[in-house]
Amino acid sequence: MKRSIIITGGAGFIGSHVVRLFVNKYPEYRIINLDKLTYAGNLANLRDVEAKPNYRFVKMDICDFEGVFNLMQEEQVDGIIHLAAESHVDRSIKDPFTFARTNVMGTLSLLQAAKAYWESLPEKYEDKRFYHISTDEVYGALQMTHPEGIEPPFTTKASSGKHHLAYGEKFFTEDLKYQPHSPYSAAKASSDHFVRAFHDTFGMPTIVTNCSNNYGPYQFPEKLIPLFINNIRHRKPLPVYGRGENVRDWLYVEDHARAIDTIFHKGTIAETYNIGGFNEWKNIDIIKVLINTVDRLLGRPEGEDMDLITYVTDRAGHDLRYAIDSTKLQRELGWEPSLQFEEGIEKTVRWYLENQAWMDNVTSGDYQKYYEDMYAGR
Ligand code: NAD
Ligand code: TYD
Repeated sequence: MKRSIIITGGAGFIGSHVVRLFVNKYPEYRIINLDKLTYAGNLANLRDVEAKPNYRFVKMDICDFEGVFNLMQEEQVDGIIHLAAESHVDRSIKDPFTFARTNVMGTLSLLQAAKAYWESLPEKYEDKRFYHISTDEVYGALQMTHPEGIEPPFTTKASSGKHHLAYGEKFFTEDLKYQPHSPYSAAKASSDHFVRAFHDTFGMPTIVTNCSNNYGPYQFPEKLIPLFINNIRHRKPLPVYGRGENVRDWLYVEDHARAIDTIFHKGTIAETYNIGGFNEWKNIDIIKVLINTVDRLLGRPEGEDMDLITYVTDRAGHDLRYAIDSTKLQRELGWEPSLQFEEGIEKTVRWYLENQAWMDNVTSGDYQKYYEDMYAGR
């Protein structure tokens, strides 16, 4: 089947990997990248696909109802993959309004535009898809409980039967109650509710997925992994929040993009799927891996830069542990992560070191000022 798909936020980190995958894998599809190009949107992320005949970029705000409606009509859009969002927790603590505007109002505006366009067609919602990309952070935070006498991380068995390391006995499953703590996750939770409400109220064919922390090329260097790689390279301090004991569950970004492809095509309407690779790490342990890897790849003695670690005031409301149970996705749709974390980290560090021009471009000017303000007084 031929499709015409709007991917929102396609110039951002995850969006650019999704656009690249769809443009290359489905030459018969029309792929429209709708992005406002905020500080996080960067067309340099897509240089290798921008000249492809099945690709179009449109600079637009998802809050522009008329603009989105007209574009859907013009391109006869039958699918939306919605990634556009404000995505950084620290920014949401400083400026929650921007998060409510884009993540909540923007998603609602997009839903309304899709509803207006699809309901104007004779076949209405038939063969249509509104796929909303969300985060595991909507579930809140997990504790680090462990069986008596066993120190975390311990080996446990997922309901899929596979063994993996974990820092706690509970995991985020699709049936959990939403308990967001940060303005970012509260805004994402709200947008998830609106998407489900449009299915329940109007019959819109929606799907929601909640993914764990992503890492890989083209991530904006305000997030832990690219920020720290760049700082280690330039021997700048590494601001570790609190004691570095918080746990995140990391997935290589191309594996997330592959999951999105699978779910867009095979997922069941109105369902939720959690996406993650059972890969929990304490921040401080990742940071040590990053230091060793950067040092080694730059020909420095491994571990030489450990003294860059600088413990700073903790993030307000800092969630202790995220851990996704992706058994449903693995069992029902056959998706699996393709990379071991060690391989993914090696690839990622190499990419940032080899693409210093990309990094310099996004860390100059306004960003530099923002970064200095952000850490002033810590
Ligand atoms: P990002 O910040 O790198 O990119 C966001 C993109 O959205 C940018 O290109 C930006 O220009 C665009 N955008 C922002 N506001 C817009 C608006 N009003 N109109 C149009 N475009 C706008 O984000 P990311 O890390 O790639 O995350 C993408 C999505 O995946 C988000 O919805 C996020 O909540 C979700 N997610 C991210 C992670 C992660 O680890 N990064 C994990 C799970 C889910
Ligand atoms: P981040 O990449 O911002 O993702 P999220 O907050 O969505 O999980 O942060 C990952 C973890 O790293 C989180 O526990 C906060 C911590 N962190 C630091 O310790 N220092 C930093 O400078 C940053 C950006 C994050």
